[in-house]
Amino acid sequence: MNTTINQPTVLITAGPTREAIDPVRFISNHSSGKMGYAIASAFLSKSFRVILVSGPVNISLTHPNLTVIPVNSADEMYAACQKYFPSLQIAVFAAAVADYKPAQILSQKMKKSAHEFSLQMVKNVDIAAEFGKVKMPGQVSIGFALETNDEEQNALKKLYTKNLDLVVLNSVQDEGATFGHDTNKITIINRDFLFQAFPLKSKVEVAEDIAAAAIKVSRKQVE
Ligand code: CTP
Ligand code: CA
Repeated sequence: MNTTINQPTVLITAGPTREAIDPVRFISNHSSGKMGYAIASAFLSKSFRVILVSGPVNISLTHPNLTVIPVNSADEMYAACQKYFPSLQIAVFAAAVADYKPAQILSQKMKKSAHEFSLQMVKNVDIAAEFGKVKMPGQVSIGFALETNDEEQNALKKLYTKNLDLVVLNSVQDEGATFGHDTNKITIINRDFLFQAFPLKSKVEVAEDIAAAAIKVSRKQVE
């Protein structure tokens, strides 16, 4: 990888996580990773060093300034991120991290039986919130809030509980703004309660808007 002295670093999480049940089964979600990868491309075009910690997706991206760290579970994603927390200027948490994981991973394939069964789930680590606890002055973090109801209230709660600098509100009620689409409609909210609403755009254009907003906040912090 090409690293220039003082080249700013951005860490981006992307895609879904897979939480194993046994050696052949997992729990996951529909995240395609398109938004996170588009944000990575936007930062690469602005000469950032990009660390992309990615759950399993069908996208391939290469660039001399890009390091892709493929992971499966939320625990693996957190462990990969932690290594870079001290050295980054901007963190963008775009992954759809599973909120829960099975309480235990069976070492052998679970066999079908005559009975119903239920799975005990335990909470996963909240990666964005953990970074919020250790964030140093000069470091900024951006999170997403994918909401179906009480959107602004829920997004603001995430902004404060995860100690984010910006929260990107995604409404799943908006046509063309859900998982797998190439378009997205966002509102960026900052800690001064400033709401910046954008029209429906391609994920590539939305990524440019998010990168530009993140860089603006980052520059303000070092001024
Ligand atoms: N996030 C994370 N680690 C988790 C869960 C979420 O880093 N274990 C990040 C996501 O990448 C996103 C933000 O936190 O940037 C909000 O994720 P979201 O799923 O919308 O919110 P949650 O806090 O998990 O709450 P809920 O799913 O109940 O709305
Ligand atoms: Ca969640």
